[in-house]
Amino acid sequence: MGTIVVNGGRRLNGQLFVQGSKNAVLPILAATILTREPCYLRHVPAIKDVQVSLQILSQLGGRVTRMDGSVHIENAILNPENLTPTLASKMRSSILFSGACLSAYGYSRLDKPGGCLIGERPIDMHLQCFRDMGAHVEEHDTYTILSADRLQGCIHHLRLPSVGVTENVLLAAVLAEGTTIIRGAAREPEIVTLCQCLRKAGARIAGEGSSQITVQGVEKLHGFVFHVPADRIVAATYLCSVMATGGSLWLSGVNAWEMDSLLRVLERMGAEVGVRPHSMHLQMKGKPVGIPFLQTGYYPELPTDVQSLLLIPLCLSKGAGEIEERIFENRFRIVPELQKMGAVVHTDGNRVRYEGVEALHGTAVRAAELRGGAALVMAGLAAQGQTVISGIEYIERGYENLVGDLKRIGADIYYER
Ligand code: EPZ
Repeated sequence: MGTIVVNGGRRLNGQLFVQGSKNAVLPILAATILTREPCYLRHVPAIKDVQVSLQILSQLGGRVTRMDGSVHIENAILNPENLTPTLASKMRSSILFSGACLSAYGYSRLDKPGGCLIGERPIDMHLQCFRDMGAHVEEHDTYTILSADRLQGCIHHLRLPSVGVTENVLLAAVLAEGTTIIRGAAREPEIVTLCQCLRKAGARIAGEGSSQITVQGVEKLHGFVFHVPADRIVAATYLCSVMATGGSLWLSGVNAWEMDSLLRVLERMGAEVGVRPHSMHLQMKGKPVGIPFLQTGYYPELPTDVQSLLLIPLCLSKGAGEIEERIFENRFRIVPELQKMGAVVHTDGNRVRYEGVEALHGTAVRAAELRGGAALVMAGLAAQGQTVISGIEYIERGYENLVGDLKRIGADIYYER
């Protein structure tokens, strides 16, 4: 698989156009199952999770054509029984295909979803929502069979604002009989994007972005053309890189308002941030200022996906503090690797505590999940000496061109295949 090699200690300066959003495009790819007409997506990131999703659609019987940053999909007649466990186990987001298959074909086989090792990632809420809509759920050791004549709209009360559950219920409800109300819905920008896309296909949805979403089921959806918005977590990755190395960065194609909770934290750490409708600028002079206490939460609070990314400039900051991780139970896998680089950081239950050091030093480190892997690359950018990152297949699940983008803004970084 190879490694990423970074010769650190260089300030980063320049401009980047941010890739399409992984967490926005995955449910939209599942949504193409809901129509037999062609769908055309633009600004689709060339990442492993998209590749697996397109393989799933092809295995179900869809016709998929990829042209540069665009994808053309025709799901005229699919057979949900074609999906093999191998593919589904490669990615947790394969679960999003279950709601769409169940809704459009009355059947879905749900194999134990794969994905990162950041937590137990149960699917109990997904299954309960399908039962509430009238689906028959037959659970086996390693897979679950879902079946239904026609799903019935109902009122769901989510015990927590799960992104995936909200998306799955939306994908199931748009063709269901009657009205569906999701109370306690996730409010993430990716939910808003999915609803905008479904509405383009003829769905009747209101309330996205709030904690209550209402869907009026329709008989049929038509094909759609959709431009995938920028990936706010990839944008956060580049911003936190500059926070750690110092420098100046223009990001274009981004919706800065989606990142408000992070931008406020970066300003408290000493960054100068400027935002425009579809671009933003960050300048970082000197060492970051540590923040005594931060916690991740559900949107619009600080995203769990930036926790490892923020830890890098914080470990190099003036001061000490801690971050409380309130979403996933195992999102500190990066800590032992950072300790090898000289960081003073340790975990205490669901908190990670740090004391800023003068410098990190390069060494060999291993990625164990997607965002932690990207954070190790960031640590290498700021470290003195050379850092070699293995386990890069995790990083390639979500980053289209991390090495190329960082090189473009001045990093000394390359693949060693
Ligand atoms: C989505 O995961 C994102 N993935 C994650 O991004 C992100 O970290 C997460 O939302 C939180 O924002 C995609 O969109 C593809 P959840 P998801 O359901 O939907 C619990 C990345 O780095 N839960 O909102 O799986 C669950 O255990 C990835 O890009 C249940 O208990 O997250 C967690 O504690 C990582 N039962 C909490 O909900 C269920 O049935 C929130 O998870 C479902 C979830």
